[in-house]
Amino acid sequence: MTLQLTGVDVYYGPSWILKGVSLAVPPGGVVALLGRNGAGKSTTLKTIMGLVAPRAGSVRFGDAEIGGEKPHAVNRRGIAYVPEERRIFRDLTVDEHLAIATRSAAWPPERIFRLFPALLPLRERRGRFLSGGEQQMLAIARALVTGPRLLLLDEPSQGLAPVVVDAVITSIEAMRDEGLAILLVEQNVELALDVADHAAIIDQGAIVFEGTGAELRGRGDLQSTYLGVGT
Ligand SMILES: Nc1ncnc2c1ncn2[C@@H]1O[C@H](COP(=O)(O)OP(=O)(O)O)[C@@H](O)[C@H]1O
Ligand SMILES: [Mg+2]
Repeated sequence: MTLQLTGVDVYYGPSWILKGVSLAVPPGGVVALLGRNGAGKSTTLKTIMGLVAPRAGSVRFGDAEIGGEKPHAVNRRGIAYVPEERRIFRDLTVDEHLAIATRSAAWPPERIFRLFPALLPLRERRGRFLSGGEQQMLAIARALVTGPRLLLLDEPSQGLAPVVVDAVITSIEAMRDEGLAILLVEQNVELALDVADHAAIIDQGAIVFEGTGAELRGRGDLQSTYLGVGT
């Protein structure tokens, strides 16, 4: 199912935050949403997930208009969200996190731990004893066991050491290879272009570029203007 945002406007109180955002993620596609701090990336994901209601425009998933639906309803339609702050419970083990979230028989533990082998020896470990990278993988795994067709990832590499970022990338690639569609928000352009086939840039709440990853790689001008790369 295709996710299609068309002309989406979002306000926080009187502040106009998203300005006519249009963006598509096809079935099985991996799209990177890039942009500076404060550009509107997280707000875009929250709008898709139903955490923020659009004032104008439409959010369609397949044949359904989902703009303004509640988060649990959006999740039931097949969209899962991994927020920037990972929200791991201090006192729950890895297995307990997965058990309380599991809703789909499609993601038994064996399949989860094939994608996240680093979590396998940690199944009985509590959240507060996991490293940042392990928490990030668990946050993604917890979203997966709800059985989504589309995964929204908000800056999964944030705050992680390079070697751990590599493990997260490997997991994202494995999910892509399993046919999951992914909308990946990142400030790390290199990481995003490694895994995404399409990319969009958002700046001050408006989409200023949409194209293939290869096109964006060739556009040093866009990267320096909107992403602060090479400056
Ligand atoms: N709850 C909120 N209330 C008011 N303004 C907000 C809120 N959340 C974010 N903003 C503002 O909206 C803009 C976009 O934020 P955000 O979507 O978090 O950006 P990004 O994820 O690209 O860094 C920023 O100017 C930010 O300060
Ligand atoms: Mg953000």
